[in-house]
Amino acid sequence: MSNSSISPSILVIGTGGTIAGLRTDLGNGGYQAGQVPISTLLTQINSKFPLKNMQLSNIDSCDLSEPLLSELGVQVRMGLADPEVIGIVITHGTDTMEETATFLEFVCGGSARNFGKKVVLTGAMLPSDHPQADGPGNLSDAIEFAGKRDSQSGIWAVMGSKPILGLALVKGHSSQTNAFFGEALPNDWVQVSNDLPIPPDNQWPWVEIITSHVGARPETITFLKNHGVQGIVLAGTGASTVHESLAPALEQFMEAGGAVVRASRIGRGYIGGSLANGRLAKALSAGNLNPAKARIALQLALFASTQSSPNPLSWQDYFARMVGLPEFR
Ligand code: SIN
Repeated sequence: MSNSSISPSILVIGTGGTIAGLRTDLGNGGYQAGQVPISTLLTQINSKFPLKNMQLSNIDSCDLSEPLLSELGVQVRMGLADPEVIGIVITHGTDTMEETATFLEFVCGGSARNFGKKVVLTGAMLPSDHPQADGPGNLSDAIEFAGKRDSQSGIWAVMGSKPILGLALVKGHSSQTNAFFGEALPNDWVQVSNDLPIPPDNQWPWVEIITSHVGARPETITFLKNHGVQGIVLAGTGASTVHESLAPALEQFMEAGGAVVRASRIGRGYIGGSLANGRLAKALSAGNLNPAKARIALQLALFASTQSSPNPLSWQDYFARMVGLPEFR
């Protein structure tokens, strides 16, 4: 970490993404994400707060790994506990920003609220050397928001001039610069003050996403079950309905101890309750989480349920609390 600042300061953690990207083929729209160091990106920012920076990675976020998430979680916790850090900004690729926001909400959100600090993700849709680059504006807005002393502590993203609560963050367009919006959270969603444990590098539960679609076939589920997958998130059709050819394989997976969560491939709207046709009655619904976010939540719930605790909970109990299901246990 470069410690070029006086205290108190904002910690800016660089992880890569288009915000740190450079064009490869001028005029053709081609570029490579994760090329410019965070220390260089910060030279374009006029901040009223002292800044310190840390380069955690410089990747295209489509390559984000679970061990890197663990490392990020550890660094964010350290930053939150550091009295000289007033807020944290994370530059990140936009493609998986919502997964990182979900992870941070469940492993650091409580600490952020307890310390009264903000953790703010930001990124860009255009590379750093594009004439209309949106990165400097987003980074500047994120730093400004992270440094504000107000009651809005917790996990956030700032994109396109909008602060969006981390768990509500959705990338809703593949190319527009105004690609992000905030999905409504359930009324009974509880911002817990106890963070879940961060899985060590090699202890992340194996969870996959299976999409239901026209002509869906069950072989992938059987394959995954036979190879030791611990959880499956269903990206169901509509309100998380499931093809008749997939349901029996998923039922068998649950009977064998596998965890199943029902989300929707639509990626918007609340998934709750059970299906009218009775399929997958023992699966939990994903609430407002889209499949990618539900996958992270299920991994954390499965890991937490294996940790010793004075009040042990099942993965279903953890998941129901995290997502704010009415069957809060
Ligand atoms: C990435 O997610 O790293 C590339 C795309 C982006 O940041 O917009």
